[in-house]
Amino acid sequence: MSTRTRRGLIIIALLLAPFIIGLLLTYQLVRIPFPTNMAESPAVGYQAGPRISPPEGAVPIQGEAVIPEEVPVNPVPADATSLQRGEILYRIHCALCHGETGHGDGPLARYFTRPPANLAGSQATAEFDALAYLAILQGFGQMPPLAENLTVRERWDVINYTRTLPKNGGQ
Ligand code: HEC
Repeated sequence: MSTRTRRGLIIIALLLAPFIIGLLLTYQLVRIPFPTNMAESPAVGYQAGPRISPPEGAVPIQGEAVIPEEVPVNPVPADATSLQRGEILYRIHCALCHGETGHGDGPLARYFTRPPANLAGSQATAEFDALAYLAILQGFGQMPPLAENLTVRERWDVINYTRTLPKNGGQ
């Protein structure tokens, strides 16, 4: 290789270097988005927050949506076993939104335009049992139905535990 060719190559390399480094930086800084249509599909769009209320009078059609004609009555006694199971299930299935102490302040609470209901304190009524059971079964407003995740017995265990959440617990 003659001296001239070598010099020519070095000059070309020197001229190209900033260009290539510049390109790499551009990629880092601009981060040209990789085209994908997935984020625009209804499946993803539906889940983008904030979660909004269904229209007035809407009936859930996803999963089990049996609307009982009568008000459901709690058949499970709130004994130690039920409460112990209920506490574990509450931590798994409810605390994310309603909070560990039931005050409606779980880590997901801020994704709702209406905050999750305060479940703590003075809820030991048959009305609350029925209301909570229906909320789990069908969803309630912005709360999604959770019937798929809990057997019938487990729903009542959770409700039995929820009744015991103290009004000022943890606050
Ligand atoms: C994904 C979040 C989320 C989870 C999980 C969740 N909830 Fe809710 N819940 C909400 C929201 C939000 C509301 C308020 C709905 C509204 O006002 O539109 C609510 C409301 C309620 C109500 C009030 C219903 C009424 O008629 O006033 C009860 C009772 C309830 N939830 C019980 C539970 C129980 C028990 C669990 C666990 C099995 C649970 N929730 C899990 C978000 C959640």
